[in-house]
Amino acid sequence: MQNQFQTPNSKLLILMMGPPGAGKGTQAAELIKKFSIPQISTGDMFRAAVKEGTELGKKAKACMDAGTLVPDEVTVGIVRERLAKDDCKNGFILDGFPRTVEQADALSKILEELEMKLTRVLNIHVPAEDLIERAVGRRICKTCGATYHVKFNPTKSEGICDKCGGELYQRADDNEETMKTRLTTYENSTRPLIEYYQKVGIYTEVDGRQPINKVTEDLVNVLSSVKN
Ligand code: AP5
Ligand code: MG
Ligand code: ZN
Repeated sequence: MQNQFQTPNSKLLILMMGPPGAGKGTQAAELIKKFSIPQISTGDMFRAAVKEGTELGKKAKACMDAGTLVPDEVTVGIVRERLAKDDCKNGFILDGFPRTVEQADALSKILEELEMKLTRVLNIHVPAEDLIERAVGRRICKTCGATYHVKFNPTKSEGICDKCGGELYQRADDNEETMKTRLTTYENSTRPLIEYYQKVGIYTEVDGRQPINKVTEDLVNVLSSVKN
């Protein structure tokens, strides 16, 4: 059954949810190719700002290193600006936003202003015991941003990106200690959003313990069924 939040046959506005290391970025990278819409990752935006040494980067760095959340007003501000850009007109995938009830309320106001409605909230479910291993083993390409895992999705040649030959690096917050705080932050601040979107009636969960391509298949199936 359709509800007021769905826009059949038109723009895809997707929220990709899940705990740290669940596979949000990995899956968003597949979906943007398939649906030709941009991926908007607040984590990636903050990391870019840290690298550039901007004011935003300075504000975000301490929170990211600690595994806590960047303040809502900062985060909502950058998302508001980003969603107003031309490339979002035909839809987008939000990866890692919203992460608090306040952010979710702000998003619904932003979308109202833009006269847009969410198509679906996709939650990648992975049990807590798997998440630390996923984060600690993650490697990212410095050049193209492709994500790998030393055990679950290794590159052909160690430390070198399969796609572009770039060098791989590890995120500063991908260590066991910070991951523990990130998981607690998720439980306290972000998990309540599951119920928030369940109430709206646009929430679907997929099993994120399956192989990467199988998770993608499940997500695409969900979207195909709500799109038409
Ligand atoms: P962010 O960058 O969003 O980090 P996160 O939510 O902790 O999520 P990750 O990026 O770690 O995980 P992912 O789900 O994308 O997993 P991935 O696909 O890479 O945020 C970082 C920080 O920025 C936050 O801590 C906070 O400080 C700040 N921030 C960001 N957004 C904010 C907001 N809205 N408000 C306030 N602060 C904010 O996969 C992980 C690994 O697993 C990879 O190695 C991958 O290869 C592997 N993998 C993926 N899928 C599978 C599979 N199916 N099987 C086996 N391995 C798999
Ligand atoms: Mg990510
Ligand atoms: Zn690369």
